[in-house]
Parts: sequence; C-alpha cells; structure tokens
Amino acid sequence: MLGAPDTQPQHASLAAAVLGGRIIELCDELAQFSEEPGRLTCTYLTPAHRAAASQLAAWMQAAGLDTSIDTVGNVIGRFPCADPHAKTLIVGSHYDTVRDAGKYDGRLGIVTALVVAEELSRRRFKLPFHLEVIAFAEEEGVRFGTAYLGSRVIAGRFEPEFLTRRDASGATVADVIASAGGNPADIPGLARRSDDLLGYLEIHIEQGPVLLEAGLPLGIVTAIAGGARYGVSISGVAGHAGTVPMASRHDAVAAAAELTLFVETLARNTPGLLGTVGQINVPGGAINVVAGRSDMSLDIRSSDENTLARGIADVQAQITQIEQSRGVTITLAELLRAPVVPCAEALQRRFADVLQKASLPVRYLPSGAGHDAVMFDGLAPIGMLFVRCGNGGISHNPLETVAEADAGLAANVLLDLLMNFQIDEFQ
Ligand code: HGY
Ligand code: MN
Ligand code: MN
Repeated sequence: MLGAPDTQPQHASLAAAVLGGRIIELCDELAQFSEEPGRLTCTYLTPAHRAAASQLAAWMQAAGLDTSIDTVGNVIGRFPCADPHAKTLIVGSHYDTVRDAGKYDGRLGIVTALVVAEELSRRRFKLPFHLEVIAFAEEEGVRFGTAYLGSRVIAGRFEPEFLTRRDASGATVADVIASAGGNPADIPGLARRSDDLLGYLEIHIEQGPVLLEAGLPLGIVTAIAGGARYGVSISGVAGHAGTVPMASRHDAVAAAAELTLFVETLARNTPGLLGTVGQINVPGGAINVVAGRSDMSLDIRSSDENTLARGIADVQAQITQIEQSRGVTITLAELLRAPVVPCAEALQRRFADVLQKASLPVRYLPSGAGHDAVMFDGLAPIGMLFVRCGNGGISHNPLETVAEADAGLAANVLLDLLMNFQIDEFQ
C-alpha cells in the first residue's frame, strides 16, 4: 500500500536514465502502429492512428489517469485534484505523424507527460490543480491539410470547414470522424474555457541542431514561428511535346518549377524567412505531353511577423508575374495562417528556475517548427521545453533520435515544475 499522500514541495528527481529509458521505450512501442510497412506513417484516423490512440489510452489508464478519447480522437488523461473548482493545467502534444516519420516528434511530449503523471499518481502526490495529459489526434495536417485539428477543438478554435476537407481517396474529415464512432456535432462542446485553464505546457524535440551544437540537453522556448501554408493550383494548356513551339507553351510544370525556385531564392536571401515546396503533383501528366495542370504546396515561415508578411506578399507578387509571363492561371488556397506566438515569460521563468535548481544550463531559443501550443495563445499562458535531437537535429525523418538521458532530464524538469507549481501567479 502506498504511504500517505505527499503534499509538501518535494525533491522530484528520479534517475534520469530510468525515466528516460521508459520514455524512449514507450515511443518505440507506439511506433509499431503505422499505415505503411517498414516505416512510420500514422495519419489522422487511419486504423493505425486509432490503434495508437487505444494504446495511449491504455497507458494513461494504467498510470491511474481518468482516461477518455474524445469525438475527434484526442486522448485525454485527467489527474484530478481534490478541489472541484480548481483550474486545469494541460500538458500535451500530438500523436499523428508525417509520412516516413521519426518516432519522437509529438510523441516524446505525450509520453514524458504520461510518465510524469504516472509518478505523481504512484506517489499519490496532491497537486493544487487538475492535470490533464492530452495526446492531440492531428497536428501535422498530412492527410487532410487540417493542421492542429486536435488542439483547435480543445482550444475552441476548430474550423467547421475542416469537416469538408478531403483526403486523396475523396473521404472527408466528417466521414472519418463518423466511421471512428465520433460525432462532429459534439465538437463545439469540447472547447475549454479560458477561465478554467491554468496554463498549457508542451515538451517537444527541438527538431533542429541548436541544442546539439551547444552541447545542451534542454532548451526553453521563447516563441513559436508563425507560418502560412497554401495549396497552389496551376492551369496552363496541355499540348504535344513534339509539336508545340517552346515560345507558345503555357506549361503548368515549368510554372511550378519557376515558383519553386523563386520561393527558395527569396528565402535564401531573406534573413529569418523559410520557404518550402514539399509537394508537386502533375495530375494526368505524361512524358510526351506539355503539362496543362500542376498542383503544389507552399509553406512560408518566420519568427518575425513583418518578415513573414513581406515574404508572403513577395510570393504573391511573383505569382502574378508568372501568370502574365507564362499565360497560366495560378490559384492559392490558404490552408493555415498562424501568427508568431510568444511563450509566457512566467512559464519561461519557471522552467529556468527548475533547470538552475537541477544545475542544468539555461538556454533560450525560438521554435522554427509549429506546435499545438500555438492554439492556446490568448487562452492560457503557454510554455515549451525543447529536448536535444541527435543526428544533426534531423526531424520529419526516420533518422530522428533522442538520448534516453535527455528525455529523463526533461521528465525530471516537468515533475519538479508540477510538484512545486505555485498557482497564485496564474489564477
Ligand atoms: O510543420 C511543423 O512545423 C510541425 O511539425 N507541425
Ligand atoms: Mn512535425
Ligand atoms: Mn511536432
């Protein structure tokens, strides 16, 4: 039988190696659920995704959390405190992945929170707030282009038009929610009220080389880059590759190539701007046909709002220029527009206090990647802790890697922060 519940601030630290080993082991186990053999791809509400949700729910249950899976597939583990009127602190991240993904993007944050909640439950530690570990069902937007769908629902920022977005097979988001037993009509009721939230924390891999090059295990996130994502459709005139003179072509693939190189050159020459074309498709293309159609994606980001806005405007101006010079029509469908989001100073300070107490170096850095935390901006104070990545910091790639000891240090920091969390500053 466990001893009397702990209530006083405690020294949280557990052997980082033990906690870290468990975190990496669970991430590796979760990676077994994939929709593609031999690589990790786990996109929104596929059978593999639903199996991953069930596994996460089982682990949360076993950790002693009140567990549920909501109508859009978010897996929620609640560690309630004695006071029913207390606020809730959410610690979350996402469990969907990109295609041929690494095992730790999103998942490391969920499993770290899970392992820490398990430890709090084991110690029967009484928090002065409700703790919720949330595994968001969809952040990457790979299958339907619906980035941050899971956290939008919890943050009350769900876009109803998402329900009509279609995947490559023509299935809509509404279809797959219904076939997973959910009901889109329930979505509005899942939104959390700002008054009920103490804050939102996210532990996440850095997905870059900064901590690795500095030789640091952890970093405090200062702000999350803003970004815009577009679907671009280009229509020209299909023609015979052997008879249409070069000067009179309206080639949709050449137009896509010109736009791609413009985006790359602009971003290369603009400090703080990143531009990526991750997909180009040629519907009905053939080797001996001048393409009449092409579709491409566009991802533009910056940690500075003005740089981002100027970058978007420059790309839009170039699109007009390409339309006129090539006689093609280019339409832009905005899929996402997220502002630069600062992390709460108070939570950055909390992380710094805990790192100093653990004699760990304090390093602040911005996030170039987007995270579910952005959806809680304006709703609750947000804080993020980065964990060093190996292999040059690579991510969105199966070579993504994290050291057990670093994962364990992150768990210790989160455990300490939660066990000594003075709530008055956030009431
Ligand atoms: O694209 C991103 O920044 C994140 O991985 N969703
Ligand atoms: Mn990602
Ligand atoms: Mn992520």
